[in-house]
Amino acid sequence: MLENQIKNAIRDIPDFPKPGIIFKDITPILKDQKLCTDIVDALVKQTQDLDFDAIAGIESRGFLFGLMLANKLNKPFIPIRKAGKLPFKTIQQFYDLEYGTATIEIHEDAFEKGAKILIHDDLLATGGTVVATSQLIEKMEGKIAGYSFLISLDFLNGNERLEKYSENNLSLARYQ
Ligand code: PRP
Ligand code: MG
Repeated sequence: MLENQIKNAIRDIPDFPKPGIIFKDITPILKDQKLCTDIVDALVKQTQDLDFDAIAGIESRGFLFGLMLANKLNKPFIPIRKAGKLPFKTIQQFYDLEYGTATIEIHEDAFEKGAKILIHDDLLATGGTVVATSQLIEKMEGKIAGYSFLISLDFLNGNERLEKYSENNLSLARYQ
């Protein structure tokens, strides 16, 4: 089963990047070409019937599978980046991370008003990152079509914070 394969491949790193955090390291997944293919196929299967115009992937780990998914579904890919990385005019959003604070940005011409955006990231933890991304998209008058994750840390209750943006919250591997 794919969920078990993902969980078996993920490496837990205690106390990274800060004491008390158990970091879910997905780099072993990236070394396994067959597993990557199966993951992309499963992401496609989960999301292909949703109604959306583009996929927004969140720097940096959300770029890894987000672009592959967008490409397979023939949809545009929109990079959501950490502050200071995007070269054109941007809209910004501050947010709290599981470990620290951050700012993310999107290009102001990333999509047309009213566009339906599927948000992809590798991992849902507290939900701070995707909530900030959702706020950015709404600031630009986009609509949240749903969320696509590889991994959800359901015990951190990030799911609840997403309910007000979309009922579509998809994940390939959940930790209760
Ligand atoms: C990690 C992860 C998610 C986010 C989840 O990214 O890739 O984007 O944290 O945490 P949250 O749900 O509590 O917001 P990180 O900021 O470590 O950066 P990276 O993707 O560039 O490694
Ligand atoms: Mg990330």
